[in-house]
Amino acid sequence: MQVQVDNREFKEFSKKRPGGARGAISYADSIFLHSKIQNVEPKILVEIGIAAGISSATLLYSMQKLNNNSQLYAFDLMENCFFDLTKEVGFAVEHMINKDFAEKSYFKKVPSSVFDFHNYFDLNSIDFMFIDANHRHPWPCIDLFASLPYLKEGSTVCLHDINLPQRNQKFPNYGVKNLFDKLDGVVKDVSEEEIPNCGSIIIKDKENIREQIKSIYKYCNWEEKLQPEVLSKLETIGLLNYNNQNS
Ligand SMILES: C[S@@+](CC[C@H](N)C(=O)[O-])C[C@H]1O[C@@H](n2cnc3c(N)ncnc32)[C@H](O)[C@@H]1O
Repeated sequence: MQVQVDNREFKEFSKKRPGGARGAISYADSIFLHSKIQNVEPKILVEIGIAAGISSATLLYSMQKLNNNSQLYAFDLMENCFFDLTKEVGFAVEHMINKDFAEKSYFKKVPSSVFDFHNYFDLNSIDFMFIDANHRHPWPCIDLFASLPYLKEGSTVCLHDINLPQRNQKFPNYGVKNLFDKLDGVVKDVSEEEIPNCGSIIIKDKENIREQIKSIYKYCNWEEKLQPEVLSKLETIGLLNYNNQNS
């Protein structure tokens, strides 16, 4: 069920978006996230991939509407924006969200990644997750696979750039598309656009999803060679190295 968004109010919020935020979610993506959050009413939210923080601000706006003491934990490998190292990741939040609300609801964890979740979350505790990090295969698989133990049964995961190669020919990266399109028998939804770029899945039957991700991870074309420190972490969560496929 999609919740009706108050477009006028949402447009006013979106106007606060600072200029120069590269790689950020679009207005249509924001509406999709907002609608999902109003529908799911999550208490513990997680984001992987902060950059400027347009998605962080959107999630926080939506959480403020819910007024349910929810918390957003946002992870990024970088402390500063990849497109402007003079700016901290998440800088958009102070332009778009009330300071008091951000202070009590927004917890930036940088530099860090999905491999640090064990420091912050109990098993089966996350209600909602948004992934917008490395789009090259197999990274989206890694992010979702490593998150699974911490996601609640019935939780919602939104993925950004599910049609990245179609939307932007400068980025022919199929990582998110592979994962979203190939997950089978999972409840999915997409943003309302001709070529949607934001999608959601419901996490039900984790063991089934786990096995499917393993297969997608293994058999799709690897677009990135993983660093040795990542490979050693993968072993601990039960994913193998298939780097030989792309070298
Ligand atoms: C496309 S940008 C995110 C844009 C952001 N969601 C927004 O709407 O403003 C991707 C971000 O993911 C981060 N990133 C890339 N790989 C990552 C990983 N494995 N774990 C955590 N963050 C990662 C990058 O440093 C970058 O800041």
